[in-house]
Amino acid sequence: MVALADAAGKPVPHRRRIMAGMRPTGKLHVGHLLGALRTFIALSEEGECFYEVADLHALTTKFDRGAEIAADVREMVLDWLAAGLDPQRCTIYLQSRIPEISELAIILSMLTPLSWLERVPTYKEQIEILGPHLATHGFLGYPVLQTVDIAIMRGERVPVGQDQLPHLELSREIIRRFNHFYGPVLVEPEPMLSQTPLVPGTDGRKMSKSYDNSILLAESEEETRAKVTTMFTDPAKIHKTDPGHPETCPVFFFQRAFNPSAADEIAQRCRTGRLGCVEDKADMARHLNAALAPLRERRAALAAQPRLVEEVLAEGTRRARTVAAQTLADVRAAMGM
Ligand code: TRP
Repeated sequence: MVALADAAGKPVPHRRRIMAGMRPTGKLHVGHLLGALRTFIALSEEGECFYEVADLHALTTKFDRGAEIAADVREMVLDWLAAGLDPQRCTIYLQSRIPEISELAIILSMLTPLSWLERVPTYKEQIEILGPHLATHGFLGYPVLQTVDIAIMRGERVPVGQDQLPHLELSREIIRRFNHFYGPVLVEPEPMLSQTPLVPGTDGRKMSKSYDNSILLAESEEETRAKVTTMFTDPAKIHKTDPGHPETCPVFFFQRAFNPSAADEIAQRCRTGRLGCVEDKADMARHLNAALAPLRERRAALAAQPRLVEEVLAEGTRRARTVAAQTLADVRAAMGM
């Protein structure tokens, strides 16, 4: 690493290069906010961040619905901006508009053994869940493309959830293999594991679009309130006077996240049969709505500017493409091609 120094020769700490991508799945939910988005925002204060809208990755499962992905990109970027991700402090860009990513993906695919891809746990799992039509060349190659996303921006740290660790490990192996053949050209990234526990959805399972159990950042207060009313709670607590188990209750998870100062008292009242689920839910929905209100207001204002998302992506993609082109040039030079 080149040591940087200021004009007086005093060393300036190297600003770590952070890279992360998110597949555009349309409007984001509270799980995205707590699990990833808040980390993205915090990191953009301390590192040099490249945040990619991974629309090619979305194509691995929606290969027949390109226009739908384009609409999803807009919704997701609006949520990013509304949540406070500032395009002046980080680079927000669109994967498919950087052809160098696709080119490096072909090159790295040549030296990635098939057996490495076949052993990624999510591959077989997802095909079992979503169906055999997913068994495409592109879907198997998902981790190669993700490796390129990181490597082409020279990402050193990658904020990810637990489920992405096997992908990151594979990325490191692919990059080591390239560097073994051609010299130390690509940077081996390190994962930064998110500290947020899995965010539960309204049915108590992990909050996920595909389970239809999400609370969306962009929905109305009424919609949120209605969803919270139907939320799964501790099955052992039927009457208000029954002792509850807040540590396993999704309603309490959100109290802890959005009403932290009252959480201990709420847990105590729930456990001792002095707080019923109906009252608890109404209270939680109020705090959740209050916490999301500024985001929702900003989002409405941003959405009213029809060209905003395109402009943010155009500017970020221009910056990211400069970096990508340089890395690809280094790769070609190292390979002697
Ligand atoms: N696979 C990641 C996910 O589903 C998204 C992603 C694409 C990504 N490219 C990336 C994450 C690069 C980190 C780095 O969440």
